[in-house]
Amino acid sequence: MKTVDINRPIGVFDSGVGGISVLKELCRLLPHEDFLFYGDSFNAPYGIKTTEEVYQLSRNIVKKFVARDVKAIVIACNTATSAAISRLRAEFPAVIFVGLEPAVKPAVEHKQNSHVLVMATKLTLQERKFADLVKNYSDQAQISVLPASELVEFVERGELDSPQLNSYLKKILKPYLNQTDAIVLGCTHFPFVRSTIQKIVGKNIYIVDGALGAAKRLDAELERTGAKCSPEQPGSVKFYNSNPDPREIKLSRKLFSL
Ligand code: DGL
Repeated sequence: MKTVDINRPIGVFDSGVGGISVLKELCRLLPHEDFLFYGDSFNAPYGIKTTEEVYQLSRNIVKKFVARDVKAIVIACNTATSAAISRLRAEFPAVIFVGLEPAVKPAVEHKQNSHVLVMATKLTLQERKFADLVKNYSDQAQISVLPASELVEFVERGELDSPQLNSYLKKILKPYLNQTDAIVLGCTHFPFVRSTIQKIVGKNIYIVDGALGAAKRLDAELERTGAKCSPEQPGSVKFYNSNPDPREIKLSRKLFSL
């Protein structure tokens, strides 16, 4: 009988350091697993590239993970998930893929007939996958979208609460301030500025992201395939980044520790 090697690591990637917000949730839910995190900061941001460019960049990272014999890959990036996950699943059928999608469902379910604002990159909001997602909820809530690709670059610089960030956020959020019940952080960089956003919009607005949903899906996939690590084993995390500047790994560790 073929046995599954449960001790293989799990690959997690993002266009940059944003996916660390997902990695933190994965480690919380699956503390015995070994994670390899790859941030493609050299090529960030993905959200203003074409679908084909994001697919090619994602494919290169997947090939690196496959060469490391990972047991699953988490695409900790809404943009790469929308642009590439279906093609990657078709091309690498033996790999378990878990992707990220804007957490529209919990936002809509939070309050009946509410106004939901989805903040994400330009590419995520343009993709068919997002249109299909919104269609499922359009009779239950009023859903608006706010492309916020520049926010990715603030987080890539490690700028989480600067005066410039505050004025950028105030400017883009102003039109929605008195008419929003929930905000979906549909980009994995955005949870790192959640408290800055919350201060601007006020504590009554519910802010949600997709990390917990992705962690639960990975957990279920590992259970289903019998690939979960033994609970006696301590887990680990290793950081890699396409930008050779050593400050990237320092920033990655800092964000992981927040
Ligand atoms: N973190 C990514 C996401 O969740 C994208 C950021 C980028 O534009 O590179 O969409």
